[in-house]
Amino acid sequence: MKQDMTKSEARARLAKLRQTIDHHRYLVQVLNRSEISEAALDSLKHELQQLEERWPDLITADSPSQRVAGQPRPEFRKTRHRVRMWSLSDVFSIAELQAWDERWRKLRPPATSDYLVDLKLDGLAISLTYEGGLLSVGATRGDGQIGEDVTENVRTIEAIPLRLRVDGLSPVVRRQVEHGQVIIRGEAVMRKQDFAALNRQQAKLGKPAFANPRNVAAGSIRQLDPKITASRQLDFYAWELATDLGQPTLWAGYELLRAMGVKTNPRAEVVTTLASLGRFHQRMYEQRDKLPFWIDGVVVKLNHRQLADELGFVGKAPRAATAWKFSAQQATTVVENIVVQVGRTGALTPVAHLSPVQVAGTTVARATLHNADEIARLDVRVGDTVIIEKAGDIIPDVVEVIKNLRPEKTRPWRMPITCPVCHHQVVRKKDEVIHYCPNPRCPARRREHLYHFVSKRALDIAGLGPQTVDLLIEEGLVHEPADFYRLREQDLIGLPLLAEKRAANLVQALAERRTVPLDRFIFALGIRHVGEETARTLAEHFGTWEKVMAAPLAELERVGDIGPVVGGSIAAHFADPQHRDEVRHLLRFVTPQRIRATRAGLLHGKSVVVTGTLVSMTRDEAHEAIRQAGGKVVKSVSKKTSYLVIGSEPGAKFERAKSLGVTIIDEAKFRRMLGRT
Ligand code: IVH
Repeated sequence: MKQDMTKSEARARLAKLRQTIDHHRYLVQVLNRSEISEAALDSLKHELQQLEERWPDLITADSPSQRVAGQPRPEFRKTRHRVRMWSLSDVFSIAELQAWDERWRKLRPPATSDYLVDLKLDGLAISLTYEGGLLSVGATRGDGQIGEDVTENVRTIEAIPLRLRVDGLSPVVRRQVEHGQVIIRGEAVMRKQDFAALNRQQAKLGKPAFANPRNVAAGSIRQLDPKITASRQLDFYAWELATDLGQPTLWAGYELLRAMGVKTNPRAEVVTTLASLGRFHQRMYEQRDKLPFWIDGVVVKLNHRQLADELGFVGKAPRAATAWKFSAQQATTVVENIVVQVGRTGALTPVAHLSPVQVAGTTVARATLHNADEIARLDVRVGDTVIIEKAGDIIPDVVEVIKNLRPEKTRPWRMPITCPVCHHQVVRKKDEVIHYCPNPRCPARRREHLYHFVSKRALDIAGLGPQTVDLLIEEGLVHEPADFYRLREQDLIGLPLLAEKRAANLVQALAERRTVPLDRFIFALGIRHVGEETARTLAEHFGTWEKVMAAPLAELERVGDIGPVVGGSIAAHFADPQHRDEVRHLLRFVTPQRIRATRAGLLHGKSVVVTGTLVSMTRDEAHEAIRQAGGKVVKSVSKKTSYLVIGSEPGAKFERAKSLGVTIIDEAKFRRMLGRT
C-alpha cells in the first residue's frame, strides 16, 4: 500500500481490487480453475484489507472481505450453529503481529495475557456437537452461522470420537458433559502421505492428480457418499472447546479436550512474550516440510477467555486471535518506477522500483526486469500492479502484470537510446537480448568494475565495500584497480568513514593481497563472459598469466568449454589498449600464482547447485569447496545437474530438482562428500 495515498485514490483502487479478486474467486469457486497463485490472490486480499482498515467507511457490502466463501451446497441439509463460527484476521510479519498486539492492549489496559499458539492447519473447519456425550452433529463452517450437516461423513473419521470420555473429568464437568451439550471445533486435514497415496491411485486409474490437499479434504467431507469419505482417511485436530465447561483459559480447554478423548495438536504451546511467539513461528516455518500435514502459518490466541470475550469482534473475526501466516513466495505490489542500471560489462538492466511488500520473509522494494524483451513480453508499465516471486535467495522476478488493475494513461516502457549515466548511444548486438553501453569509460561501468575487483569472490579485500570505493572514487584517489595498491595510510586518514584504525587495516588488507591465485586474478579483471568457472579453466590450462595473455584466439577456443563467444570476448578485452595498460599497472603490485589442478577431485566432472541457507558455511564457501573438489558450480537446476545441495528453506530449485529426479543431498551429506565431517 502506498503510504501517501489519498482517500479518493484509495476508493478507486478498492473498486478495482474488489473486481479483480471477485473475478479470481469466481474462477476458482465456480469454474474450478485458477489463473494466478493462491499466494498472489491472498496478497491482493491483504492489500484490500489494509485499505479498508485505514478507511473503514469505504467498505462496501459487496466487498470480498464481507463475504464468506463456500456457500452450503443444496444437497446437504443445512444446520444452524448454536455458537457462531468466527474467522481469523491475518498478519504476515512480526511488525503486523505487534500492531495487532498493541491494538488489543490499548482497548483493555492494563490487561495482560499469555498467548496460546497452535499450528494453522490447512484443512477444513468442522464443528462437532455432542449431546449427552454422543456425537450428534458434524457440520462444516458454511457462512459461520449456517453450515452443512455432514454428520455421516464426519463419523468415518477415526480421530473424531463418537462418544466423549468422561472418566478423567471432575464431577461437575462430567455432569455437564453427560447431560448437556458440548461443542468442539477443529480442522479436518489430509496427511501428506495419504495425499500422495491417493494421487498414486489416481495415476493407476489413469485419472488426473489432485493438486491441493485442502480441496481434497473439503471434497472428501462434502461427499454425498460417506464411503468415499471413509476411503480418504482424514485426520482431525481440535482447536477450540466452544462450550463453557468452566475452563478459564484456552489451554485448560485443550486439556479438557484431551481428557474427553479429542486430539489437539501436540505442538501447541502457551508462551508469554512476542519474542517467543517469533521463535515458535520461525521453528514451525523450518519444520513445516517435516510435519505430517500441511500448515500455512501459526494461530495466536489470547489464552484468557474472559479477556478475549471482553475484547469482542471486528467484522467476522475476534480481536483476541489472529493467524500469523507464513509469508508466501509470491506477492502483489505496484511498480513505482522502472530504472535502468548500468553493469560492469555495460549491460543495461531495467529494474522495477516497487511499493515495499513482504515476500518470503523479507521486504522487497526492487525486482529485476532483465531486459527490454522481457518487459515487452510482460508489458510491464510504470503504475502497474504486478505479481512478484522470490525463488530462494536472489532478487525477485516480476512474473505477471495484473492488467485489470492498470491505471489509465500508462505507456509501454521503452529502453532509453542513450546510456542514463554517460549518454553514449546504447547498442544491442544482433541475436542478443541485452542492450549495452559500449563506452568503456562510462563512469557507471568503471564504478561497477572497481566494486567487482575488490569483491569477495574476486580479490576479496576486507573493508572495501561499495561505499568506501565510492568515496575513494569521489576523492580522486582511485581510477583503475592498480590505484588501490597505491593508497597510503596518510591519503586515507581524515576521509569521512575512514578513522585511523580502518585506514591502517585497509592498507594492511591490500598488502596481504599482493599474491593472488591466478584464477581469482583473471576473474577480478571483469572480462565479459568470464565468470569464476571460466577463470578457473583458463588458470588451470595455461598455468601462468603470461601464457593466458599471449594465447591466440584459436587456442583459447580449444580450452575446456570456452567457445567462440567467450574466446572472442577475452580476445576483444585485451585488444583494448586501456585494458592492457590496466593489467600492466596491476602487475607492478600483484603477482598471480599458479593454482593446483583439481582434475582428480571428488566432484570431478560433476555439476552442483547449492540452494537454501547452509549452517556451517556461506554460499561462497560452499561454491569454493565444490571447485576445490573439482566440481563445477552451476546456478540453475537442469537434467544435467549432478547434485543439488540443500540448506534450510530451499526454494523453487528444490522442487525442480525433485521433479527432474536430480540427486538431492543435505548439508551433512555434502560435508561428508567433501571429507569435512
Ligand atoms: S482458531 C475464531 N486454530 O483457520 C476462530 N483456527 O483462517 C478460531 N484453522 O476458520 C479459529 N488451524 O478453520 C484456529 N489451530 C487453529 C487453526 C485454525 C486452522 C483454520 C480455521 C479457521 C481458519 C481461519
